[in-house]
Formats: sequence, structure tokens, C-alpha cells
Amino acid sequence: MKFLQYSVLPFLLVVVILSLSGATLVHSHGDFLHCLSLHLANSSTISKVFYMRNNSSYSSVLNASIQNTRFSTPATPKPLAIITPLKTSHIQSTIYCSKKHGLQLRIRSGGHDFEGLSYVSEVPFVILDLLNFRAVKVDTKNKVAWVQSGATLGELYYGIAAKTKTLAFPAGICPTVGIGGHFSGGGYGILVRKYGLAADHIIDAQLIDANGRILDRKSMGEDLFWAIRGGGGNTFGIVLAWKIKLVPVPVVVTVFTVNKNLEQNVTKILHRWQYIAHKLPDDLYVDVGITKVSSSQAGKKTVQAAFIALFLGGVDELIPLVQERFPELGLAKENCSEMSWAESVLYLGRAPRTSLDMLLDKNVIPRTIFKAKSDYVKEPIPESGIEGFLSMFLEKEADFASMLMVPFGGKMEEIPENELPYPHRAGNLFQASYIVGWRKEENTESGKYVSWIRRFYSYMATYVSKSPREAYFNYRDLDIGSNNISGYTSYQQASIWGSKYFKNNFKRLVQVKTMVDPMNFFRNEQSIPPLSSP
Ligand code: FDA
Repeated sequence: MKFLQYSVLPFLLVVVILSLSGATLVHSHGDFLHCLSLHLANSSTISKVFYMRNNSSYSSVLNASIQNTRFSTPATPKPLAIITPLKTSHIQSTIYCSKKHGLQLRIRSGGHDFEGLSYVSEVPFVILDLLNFRAVKVDTKNKVAWVQSGATLGELYYGIAAKTKTLAFPAGICPTVGIGGHFSGGGYGILVRKYGLAADHIIDAQLIDANGRILDRKSMGEDLFWAIRGGGGNTFGIVLAWKIKLVPVPVVVTVFTVNKNLEQNVTKILHRWQYIAHKLPDDLYVDVGITKVSSSQAGKKTVQAAFIALFLGGVDELIPLVQERFPELGLAKENCSEMSWAESVLYLGRAPRTSLDMLLDKNVIPRTIFKAKSDYVKEPIPESGIEGFLSMFLEKEADFASMLMVPFGGKMEEIPENELPYPHRAGNLFQASYIVGWRKEENTESGKYVSWIRRFYSYMATYVSKSPREAYFNYRDLDIGSNNISGYTSYQQASIWGSKYFKNNFKRLVQVKTMVDPMNFFRNEQSIPPLSSP
């Protein structure tokens, strides 16, 4: 009660002052806070749920999960309040009050959105942060688990590993990524060739819709259940938890890294990789990470490709397989290590492997400032094309740039394009993603780095998918198109970005949105719009 007095009085004062000065918009913010305070008033734990700008913990709660620090500067628009619900009624109250007072609601799970859309908005907004919804319940007997959206991938993998070494889940490789955004955008990782996406293994979900109703798979129906498995977060509702099917893995897996640079024939090896990686047995995944590194010649730089692999089996089986299928790589036993599947996630995620506890460390991957983009490649890029993009890494803006090439084929080849909203399945040799970073103190010059990645993306146009130029929804890129954030967005306008992420599935996503949220309550710069203006 004391907290309530402290929290309500200052904003009432602000409301009075600002309404006397005619600031009607801010007046409605005050109404929102009042509304929420009244709804949450009975909770004895209100101080853990509701953070206004004048709360001493506001900034630390806001910054806690911001992964791209490009969106945590003083100039970044800040939410009016952050709500960290402890129970579903807190979420229902937040929906009710933000709807009533015309505020945008941004839902945040792990805070890894590349463009910061879960915690930044140009129009007045509040954040609903699911950091208290992070339970993981693993049932090894039935090979399933329930995981709440606020948990991280690392927490899920840790929860599975604590119970068994022979089950896993085919999601992303970065342990700090949140379940909520990752699952709702597809989610791929090192098991993508063997098992497909995270979304392919979701068998039930719990969602709160724009009317505050709590729905499961049965009550939401198959159309909405289809849409939330890849059609993107912040569009259809708030997904609280997901029921997933676990997949079998051997007790021992093998990983390796082989580095090749410009002085070691990297162009030719990369060229060969494109013919081989997607056709390898499904148990073998070999991705490539390209960066600028120091050359063996003093003072010089070169470009290096790191071929990093996971094999679902032992080293003695792996070596002859790679020597036969990809001899150009020159794989030797000393490049390989055997370990458990959970350890391999840390290895491929380029995280320290001192103990499995690292999976729980929210800072295991350093937070950086970056801009990223993605593509899908269907035909091998000729050597001349590879030489061209490798040479761009020698430019000075590419000191903190990288390119990741993720092989497809395997299971991804078998799943129809319309099975789930994620459409990039058969016919893709690999997914390419590009990222450029810079130092915090260079933020004022960020434009030159962003220009670099846009030039890089233009260069790649010749070699990647066309009409549409496909992109991965979970690698959010506002350059490819955006909604009108404070007004109506037509189907045609949204199709510009929607067809790139979802191809023909975009149409069905719009139909589902029109059915479940016709007033477009859940929205952001790249949420699916309803067919007509609310
Ligand atoms: P965040 O909380 O920022 O949410 C992202 C979007 O989903 C926002 O629009 C948000 O509103 C919405 N949302 C979040 N929770 C929701 C919920 N419960 N209900 C409804 N909507 C919700 N991807 C991949 O496929 N494989 C990988 O290996 C990696 N690795 C990786 C590493 C790093 C360092 C980063 C920064 C990102 C990745 N990604 C990735 C991309 C990642 O999958 C993508 O950014 C996810 O959307 C992140 O989900 P979070 O919950 O962390 O983000």
C-alpha cells in the first residue's frame, strides 16, 4: 500500500500539471498508470511488477536484456513504464489498460531483437517483460517439455541436460536468446539439417489474446497455432509458454573448427563447400563464419573462414567421412573434440565451455552494437563472386564485420513451404547473414558502418534469392520495409517486407491476424497487419 502511495502520487501530480498546460497525450499516460495501479493494487508484490520512469530500478530493468546496445543510448525512446508480470492476471491488466488508453504494448522475452522492437517505439509505449516467466519443465519419459517464453535457450538446454544426455532441442546456438521471440520467428540452430527448426517441434502453446483470453492449442484453433509458430511475435498475442517435442542425440557428439584464410586457398574451399555442405549426411553440420583477422605477415590483415562443425557421432566415424566428402578441408583428428550435445552448443555458439553453468549466464555472449541482414542462396556463388565479397572484408569499416553461412538440405528439404509461416525450405543451399559492429565511442559515426553493410548487401544481390529477395524474420531488418507505426498499413505496403520473410504464407498470416486481432492492438514496425483499417 505504501508503494502504491509513492508510485501513484507523483504521476497524479504530473497529470494535473500537464493537463493544466494542455498536454493531453501525457494526460492519457497518467490515466494508463492510474488504471494499472488500480488493477495491480491488490498485489503485495507490486514493486516487483511495475517500474515507472522515476523508479530507481527502471533503468536496470530496461537495460537488463538489451542485446544490441545501438538501442540503449540516451536518445533511444524509452517506455512510459515496464511491467514484469508475476502472474497471468498482471498481463491481462496490462493489455486492458494499454488498450483503454491507446498505448502501444511491446512484449519482451530475451531482448535480442536485432532492431530493438521489443523495447523501443517511436510512439508512446509500455514494455511487458516476461523475465519472471522462465520455468522449464522437462518430461524425459514422454520426450516433451513445457518452457515459458521468458526463459533463455541456455536455460532450456541446461534443463534438458540436467535430466538426460540423449535428448536435445533443435533451436539456436546463442544461449542468451529468449524463447518467446525465437520460437515465434522460427528458430534454427546446429540441428537444423537433422531436425529442422524449433518451430517444427512445438506441439502446444499458451497464449493471451488481445481480449485477455488465455488460449491453448485446442481453444485457439489450428490457424492461430500455425501463425504463432514462425509468423512473428508481437502480432497475434502474448505467448506465455510452449510445449515442445524433444529430439534424440547420441551421448557423445564431435565438434571441429578448421580455419582457412586468403593465403590458404579459402576462395576455392568456400566454393567447394557450397556443393557439399547441404548434401552431407544429416548427422553432419558444417557452417562457415567469415571475419577479418591478422595475417601471418606482420602488420597485414587477411580474411578467414572458420569451418565449424557438429557431428552426431564419434570422431572415428567423422574423420573418414569428411576426408571422403570434403577432402579440401584437410580435417585432422587434432581439430576435433568429443563432448556432450549441451557442451557442443557452447562450442558452436563461440562461448566459454568451463562448465554447463555457462548456459545460464546472461552475459556469456558479449553485448555489442550492430546492424545485420540476411539472405538465402539457391545456386553456388562463382569463385569471382566469392572473391568480391571476401575483399570487402578488408575495408576499414569491416573490422567488426562477419558473415555466417548456415548449410540447409537434410530435414529442411523435406518440409513443405507452407507447413509453417517460415517458408525458406527446399532448394536453399544455405542461409547467409551479415553483421557489422562498431565501438560504442564510434556511435556518432555509425552511418559509415551501416553504409558498409548496405553496400555488402547490394553486392550480394546477384548471387542470392530473387523475387522476392528472401530474408529471415528472426534476423529483423527494417531496411526491407516497415509499417506505418501510428496509422493504418495496407496489405500492399506490408507485403513489401512480408513477402520477403514469409513468401506466399504472408497472405494466410494476414487472414489469421484479421480474424484474431482485427483492431490491430498487437503491432510494431513489422507486425502482420489486418486486412482492413480498424
Ligand atoms: P525479444 O524479446 O527482443 O523479442 C523479439 C520479438 O518477438 C519482438 O517483436 C517481441 O515483441 C516478440 N516477442 C518476444 N516475446 C514474445 C512473446 N512471449 N509473445 C509474443 N511476442 C513476443 N536466431 C536463430 O534462429 N538462431 C540463432 O542461433 C540465433 N542466434 C542469435 C544470437 C544473438 C546474439 C542474437 C542477438 C540473435 C540471435 N538470433 C538467432 C535471433 C533471435 O532468434 C531473434 O532475435 C529472436 O527474436 C530473439 O528472441 P528474444 O525473445 O530474445 O527477443
